[in-house]
Amino acid sequence: MKTTFPLNRFRNLKTPFYYYDLDRLKKILGTVSRISGTYGYPVHYALKANANDRILELIKMQGFGADCVSGYEIRKALSCGFSPSRIFFAGVGKADWEIRLGLESGIGCFNCESIQELQVINEMASSLKTNAPISIRINPNVDAKTHHYITTGIEENKFGINAWEWEEVARLIHSSENLIFKGLHFHIGSQITSMDVFKGLCNRVNEISEWFINQKLFPEILDMGGGLGIDYSIGSSADPDFETYFSLFHKHLRLQPGQQVHFEPGRALVAQSGSLISRVLFVKKGIKTNFAILDAGMTELIRPALYQAFHPIENLTSDGQPEPYDVVGPICESSDCFGKAVTLAETRRGDLIAIRHAGAYGETMSSSYNLREKVQTYYSDEIPENV
Ligand code: LLP
Repeated sequence: MKTTFPLNRFRNLKTPFYYYDLDRLKKILGTVSRISGTYGYPVHYALKANANDRILELIKMQGFGADCVSGYEIRKALSCGFSPSRIFFAGVGKADWEIRLGLESGIGCFNCESIQELQVINEMASSLKTNAPISIRINPNVDAKTHHYITTGIEENKFGINAWEWEEVARLIHSSENLIFKGLHFHIGSQITSMDVFKGLCNRVNEISEWFINQKLFPEILDMGGGLGIDYSIGSSADPDFETYFSLFHKHLRLQPGQQVHFEPGRALVAQSGSLISRVLFVKKGIKTNFAILDAGMTELIRPALYQAFHPIENLTSDGQPEPYDVVGPICESSDCFGKAVTLAETRRGDLIAIRHAGAYGETMSSSYNLREKVQTYYSDEIPENV
């Protein structure tokens, strides 16, 4: 299901802007809900991928919970009406006010990433005369085989608690009166495209879960995190392979009675519904290819600059001969480049360009560098006639 754009309406809109195809989003949400539901797996959507109200509303309506990594995301999830018990809070550096907010709002679980964090949460829960539901975010030392900036589950990463601290963690949980042990949390990276990686994770989770059970800590929740990648290649429109993904965990996890498997997808739910639409400001001659200089830049979509990420790019308004262009933004950085030698229909000043699959980690990672302003967001069911 490839998004088609209401071009006539786009022509009048100020660019750049984000455009979300809500039918596309609903289809994916329905698929994930159906498949995860057959296994009884609760899904908590990772807000960091996209936290627009309209999108969160649909996700909440689908019955998903919220995976948050800051107090701001917790506030957002609460204000969008997610039930506090369906809000999980991860993150390697939780500030005191964020922990307090989580405790006072009664969130479902703190996914804890260090011994000190456990101590602080226990102290704060005690002083608030409450108990804190906690899971241990484990660093399982499983390589996600993705870009190193979005690899989180190997020992050198700052995330999760490494094996050499688990004994101390187990002792601490037993001796902390205000901590309620819920389970184990794993998130080894993002944009993972090899199913073998997830199989390897399952094998590690089986061993680690057993280890904790032997320590008399029964993990009711085995949270597998997010990470399922999407196909960013040109012309791609297929959904991620959710069938294979969920069935793999069903097949390879050795669950004990009373254990429940949770997931926290971000990208796989929202990436393909969003596009960044921009106008060509100028076309300029380069050495081998021409530059197509857009009015959108790394301030709106930083993924290509930060992770050398590839996004399909299309000229929506030209049907000229295909030619290679370096597609760049207006920001004063050479890294402000969306793609080199991208084949576009002959491109002229004023043409509309779509950068596809930008629904995850696009808007949420946008910045005001060069004092640029946050761009408009439009949804497929509410594009105005004239702006
Ligand atoms: N759970 C936790 C604890 C996470 O840290 C993340 C993402 C997710 C779930 C969701 O992962 P996903 O399903 O979206 O892969 N900005 C990067 C991606 C960073 C992901 C950070 N953590 C990008 O644009 O590729």
